[in-house]
Amino acid sequence: MSLPDAFLSCRPTSSPAMPDVTVTRRLQFNAAHRVHNPALSDEENERLFGRCNNPNWHGHNYTLDVSVRGPIEARTGYVFDLGALKKIVTERVLDRVDHRNFNLDVDFMHGVIPTSENIIVAIWRELAPAVAPARLARLVLWETPNNYVEYTGE
Ligand code: NI
Repeated sequence: MSLPDAFLSCRPTSSPAMPDVTVTRRLQFNAAHRVHNPALSDEENERLFGRCNNPNWHGHNYTLDVSVRGPIEARTGYVFDLGALKKIVTERVLDRVDHRNFNLDVDFMHGVIPTSENIIVAIWRELAPAVAPARLARLVLWETPNNYVEYTGE
């Protein structure tokens, strides 16, 4: 049985059957934080977070991988111009966090414990609207060469 013409005409005309590909831009920044829950006692914070609860802060060299997914555009062969993606991430995120303190300086982290888990969700909220109509597919945030978190918007 063939598909009705009405269904076929709903397909996007700009990229009929172009493959979806995920493209990634890696960026780096450094920032300070203190993992601390002000609702808990100092003793409980120390027990839960150990050295990461140091009152005088500590820093990390973060690596952020930003992945955008969509169809290859026939005219350019690109899914998303990676130079344009770098500019968006720099303006929306890096300029606000690089050489800053997540607890004190970063407006989109106010009231949130600055773990990598919470940071990556906050970064997602800043970036997802900015790459539309392309789709933010995945973020990976490396806090150290051994520890990373990833988020796909779910
Ligand atoms: Ni830390």
